[in-house]
Amino acid sequence: MARVLIVGGAGYIGAHVAQALVDNGYSVRIFDDFSNGLRRRVDGKFDDVVVADVLDRDALVKALDGIDSVIHLAAKKAVEESVANPLKYYENNVGGTLNLLAAMTVKNVKKLVFSSTAAVYAPNDKSSIEESDPVEPLSPYGATKLISEELIKNVGIAEGISTISLRYFNVAGSSRIEFGDNSKDNLVPKVFAAIKRGNEPEIYGDDYPTKDGTCIRDYIHVGDLADSHIAALKKVENSMVHEVYNVGSGSGYSVQEMMDQISESMNKKLHPIHAPRRAGDIPQLIASISKIERDLGWKPKRTLKEMIDSAWQSEVGNSQ
Ligand SMILES: NC(=O)c1ccc[n+]([C@@H]2O[C@H](COP(=O)([O-])OP(=O)(O)OC[C@H]3O[C@@H](n4cnc5c(N)ncnc54)[C@H](O)[C@@H]3O)[C@@H](O)[C@H]2O)c1
Repeated sequence: MARVLIVGGAGYIGAHVAQALVDNGYSVRIFDDFSNGLRRRVDGKFDDVVVADVLDRDALVKALDGIDSVIHLAAKKAVEESVANPLKYYENNVGGTLNLLAAMTVKNVKKLVFSSTAAVYAPNDKSSIEESDPVEPLSPYGATKLISEELIKNVGIAEGISTISLRYFNVAGSSRIEFGDNSKDNLVPKVFAAIKRGNEPEIYGDDYPTKDGTCIRDYIHVGDLADSHIAALKKVENSMVHEVYNVGSGSGYSVQEMMDQISESMNKKLHPIHAPRRAGDIPQLIASISKIERDLGWKPKRTLKEMIDSAWQSEVGNSQ
């Protein structure tokens, strides 16, 4: 049975990836410092858990004992915080990736799948973004991911490590109640948090050149995203590649459409507050997913309704 080290495996996406791996016959070891990871996601589900920091290279070398491949999701991911404190982001995200590559080289582990982001792309008014489109991150967070992609590719080529970076678009939903998203920045948990406080959710900008005036984004169900890691892992297991792939649903949903689905899933009428545009928000960002469909044979299967219903069930389940 192939053994996979999941760095950042107690996180929202990492726990889903860990479960998908187990369901596909892999054995997993989770490595996480629990800076944003949650015990509820691992306790009683995954028994091989290393509590350590990716900046601790010795701990990584030790954790790689008996490991065949690595999925690296550990990062800080709050865009605004990265603007206020770029050093913290470069140190954790780029420094962590560097350490991991060094430890993998020491231990001769030759397969890596990395969590990147659509935040690496330059603003673009194309109907959908392809991997070959220009990159120019708007935030230090996005920059740490682009630099990590480059690091991974360069070291991968030199050291014979087969690598894939997956550029996630907007992730939502949950496949298990306990795995739910605890972040404060993504749209769906943000709406739930506002309602919990007794407030109405906010929509930033309703005068964009889109069908209903609100921004359009590509939302992908976290279960589909987790499955894309299995496809990527099989690719790095069977061939020497240094690739990047978009992972999204390939469909655009406006903020208003998301509010409508959230309202239906919660069975609660929402009266969103229409706030001014936020600096840096572009009207539309949708993934082209033809490259990943063609090369890895992966495509998303879950609907928007399944995504939001599952996010709401998780929110309710974890509030009890
Ligand atoms: N959630 C999204 O919509 C989204 C979109 C694009 C990319 N991503 C990327 O996907 C990855 C996972 O995101 P997530 O939403 O699950 O976030 P998350 O914060 O829930 O998961 C990240 C995990 O990494 C751990 N971690 C962070 N720094 C660490 C360190 N120094 N040492 C050890 N562990 C550390 C955290 O404790 C956490 O468990 C991140 O790399 C993120 O940048 C997420």
